[in-house]
Amino acid sequence: MNNLSFTLPKAELHLHIEGTLEPELMFKLAQRNNINLPFSSVEEARKAYQFTNLQSFLNIYYQGANVLQTQQDFYDLTYAYLTKVSEQNVRHTEIFFDPQTHTDRGISFETVINGIYNALETGKKELNITSKIILCFLRHLSEKKAFETFEKALLFRDKIIGIGLDSSEVGNPPSKFKNVFDQARKAGFLTVAHAGEEGSPEYIWEAINLLKVSRIDHGVRCLEDAKLVKYLRETQLPLTVCPLSNLKLKVFNTMKDHNLKKLLELGLCVTVNSDDPAYFGGYIGENFQTIQEELLLTDEQMYQLAKNSFQASFLSQEEKEKLLKI
Ligand code: HPA
Ligand code: ZN
Repeated sequence: MNNLSFTLPKAELHLHIEGTLEPELMFKLAQRNNINLPFSSVEEARKAYQFTNLQSFLNIYYQGANVLQTQQDFYDLTYAYLTKVSEQNVRHTEIFFDPQTHTDRGISFETVINGIYNALETGKKELNITSKIILCFLRHLSEKKAFETFEKALLFRDKIIGIGLDSSEVGNPPSKFKNVFDQARKAGFLTVAHAGEEGSPEYIWEAINLLKVSRIDHGVRCLEDAKLVKYLRETQLPLTVCPLSNLKLKVFNTMKDHNLKKLLELGLCVTVNSDDPAYFGGYIGENFQTIQEELLLTDEQMYQLAKNSFQASFLSQEEKEKLLKI
């Protein structure tokens, strides 16, 4: 085990809380809530986690979320994630949640956000991990549906720092959500968007120019556009890169082909994150470890990545400085 990967103090900035649902907890919640699962065992579930692209993963991920029914379920899910990453020296985390995945099944927005929020509060006290919550719109659904979700978010304004965009990227460009993101920024939310995971660099430009994002989630396809690389270097607009996710969803064929080291060497503000760790075979520590081993990162590059994670966070300048001194 490479200790630096697990011992470096770090922040996680690209993490879908629904993607932290380990098969063991899925089975426990299915039993608690009387829900039938399409798998007969934990092992069978893990074996089914073989993906060919983003969509093949999303189908299984949305199905898994069906076991989440009560506020306690969302609490248990979130607290299990915090417990896990506290062992990997995560000091701050900014988590995504997908309210539409739950409200479309009849689970109230309030149930979801309160369960997550209460667990994060306990995590602050018991595990010394600070946190923020980012609401993601599902981009395969309409902008009208996003507006309906946004109305609910306004009722929990104090618990949500930002608005993001996830789900099936190709065919659902950021421009589809320009109006609702305009409203979100007017209401004081920060914005982020998944772009350039499977979608072209044009999607990254749209996220920047139309949604006015503070970070790009993934963004690895930026290398196809020299002007974009120059822009990202000059502005230091952060990319939240997820190496194991990219490998599992075949964005890159092998970890040695991953462009993270190149992005770092070009001077971009790159961060390392786990995306959906229960489905992609590792938490943030394993993501750091695999890139150090496969891309032969120097210790200095590992420190840089950890430093970037705090710099790119939505913490205040004062809070960042405190964490950067550790
Ligand atoms: N991309 C898009 N949507 C997602 C992802 C992702 O990597 N993970 C969970 N929802
Ligand atoms: Zn993601």
